[in-house]
Amino acid sequence: MADAVEAPPAPSLFERLSAGEAAPIAAEPVTIVIFGGAGDLAHRKLLPALYNLSLDGLLPPRTAIVGVGRKAMSDDEYRAFAKEGTAQFSRRPIDESAWPAFASSLFFVNASIDQAQGLGPLGARLDIVEHERGLPGNRIYYMAVPPSLFVPTVQQLQRARFVPPRDAATPAARPFARLIVEKPIGHDLDSAREIDDSIAEVFNEHQIYRIDHYLGKETVQNILVLRFANSIFEPLFNQKYVDHVQITVAESEGVGTRAGYYEQAGALRDMVQNHMLQLLSMIAMDPPHSLDADVVRDEKLEVLRSLRPIVGEEVDRRVVRAQYVAGFDMGKPVPGYREEPGVSPQSRTETYVAIQISIDNWRWAGIPFFLRTGKRLPKRASEISVHLKEVPPILFNADRARPLDPNVLSIRIQPDEGFALGISSKVPGPRVNIYPVKMDFHYGATFGASSPEAYERLLLDVMAGDATLFMRRDAVEAAWRFVMPILDRWRAQKDAPLPTYRAGEWGPAEADRLIEATGRQWRPL
Ligand SMILES: NC(=O)c1ccc[n+]([C@@H]2O[C@H](COP(=O)([O-])OP(=O)(O)OC[C@H]3O[C@@H](n4cnc5c(N)ncnc54)[C@H](OP(=O)(O)O)[C@@H]3O)[C@@H](O)[C@H]2O)c1
Repeated sequence: MADAVEAPPAPSLFERLSAGEAAPIAAEPVTIVIFGGAGDLAHRKLLPALYNLSLDGLLPPRTAIVGVGRKAMSDDEYRAFAKEGTAQFSRRPIDESAWPAFASSLFFVNASIDQAQGLGPLGARLDIVEHERGLPGNRIYYMAVPPSLFVPTVQQLQRARFVPPRDAATPAARPFARLIVEKPIGHDLDSAREIDDSIAEVFNEHQIYRIDHYLGKETVQNILVLRFANSIFEPLFNQKYVDHVQITVAESEGVGTRAGYYEQAGALRDMVQNHMLQLLSMIAMDPPHSLDADVVRDEKLEVLRSLRPIVGEEVDRRVVRAQYVAGFDMGKPVPGYREEPGVSPQSRTETYVAIQISIDNWRWAGIPFFLRTGKRLPKRASEISVHLKEVPPILFNADRARPLDPNVLSIRIQPDEGFALGISSKVPGPRVNIYPVKMDFHYGATFGASSPEAYERLLLDVMAGDATLFMRRDAVEAAWRFVMPILDRWRAQKDAPLPTYRAGEWGPAEADRLIEATGRQWRPL
């Protein structure tokens, strides 16, 4: 790589957007190298996302996108592969007049990560492509390979001298080398640390972008805007006014073709350790003093550090795990988890988790946060709902046989992105009949155009050098520290009965009992 040159530090994306910039533009020309460029993630998400960025004029000029894999594929074959994936999975159809320009930025290199000189052909090809396109050598390395190859890939990058020495790689140094790491990072705290340690031998933390695609969703980004750009919510977001918070991530699909991964993971690792704890930290964090990436991430980390550990027998009281058995999906019979292809008939992998979490800080002391996630639930829906306290049992709420519905702020993350506020209102007429009505905001109806996909936003942020929406090492490890005692307890209870729920139902009766024991109920979705 060329010698590092200092460039002025760029303002963070949030700073630029809040200063009124209409759309983030990552101006610096870059080469994006996708290890696993012909894999499923690249096909369904990354290449369609890059195409949409190019269509919007958001890719820096002369950008090169280089897929890497063991398959022998020509550039033309790779372009056809990208076109097919884009046609099938892009949020917008292919514009035949714009496609050729995008296609000409795609290249494929046949190289193997697990061979000693594996990246030799890649280096030679990158030099040619960058020379021909007048690219300065800024590189983004995307690890869309199986997690077992994260460390070997980074070691190969170092061996092939693709990455500047760590002390020269300051945030302002050019050309830059950045690394995108997919999930899952480890399967427990120790393995996550091992991966992080190995990556840290080659890349500084500011060069590492750990993807949690949930954080790229418009509605998740809007949590901060909703909370800190409006004066009506933030004063209420504390133990004085909030009764409890629910976070639901429901999937209607079963395990599908992912049994190999899921059997080792389960719902706690797959959903709670990353996406759900990230959502929890965004809804519960204190206002950051600036929108700088690390200031925002410091505040989120504080939440994770304030989670009350759930340890030993407490796990049995606060956490429910379950597995789906045969049932129905939209009236169609579907098999149980243990009958799915690739799943052991004796599998004890949980496909559902519900947890009651306490946050031991001044803001949230005594307020329960209920998290639930599962596969084969009645519908696909992700939502955070903030349930405010009841009004006093006088005036309109005096009839204890028919208490008023408390106000609920619900943030729909997917589908039908938006948020709603439940409010009690008088039904028109001579009598005082009170009915819960909803003030409801739908992104689609208000802003029309389809929102960018999470991967579009996240790729753009990496190009812009903005890490706000990426997970920092300390947060990943704090999240693992929280889930480890739960995994330990389950591991020690090999013979304990595993609750079940029928596919197409809202989880096991044990999860209802968990929340009902506190006098509350799961919010119907
Ligand atoms: N798919 C998703 O929706 C999704 C969602 C979240 C996270 N992820 C994560 O993203 C990563 C990729 O997932 P995926 O679903 O795309 O997997 P995949 O379809 O199996 O693709 C993996 C890619 O890695 C390449 N590869 C494997 N071994 C290699 C080696 N030794 N040298 C060079 N390339 C090698 C494979 O290509 P060749 O066989 O041609 O070498 C293949 O293109 C994983 O870490 C996964 O956990 C995926």
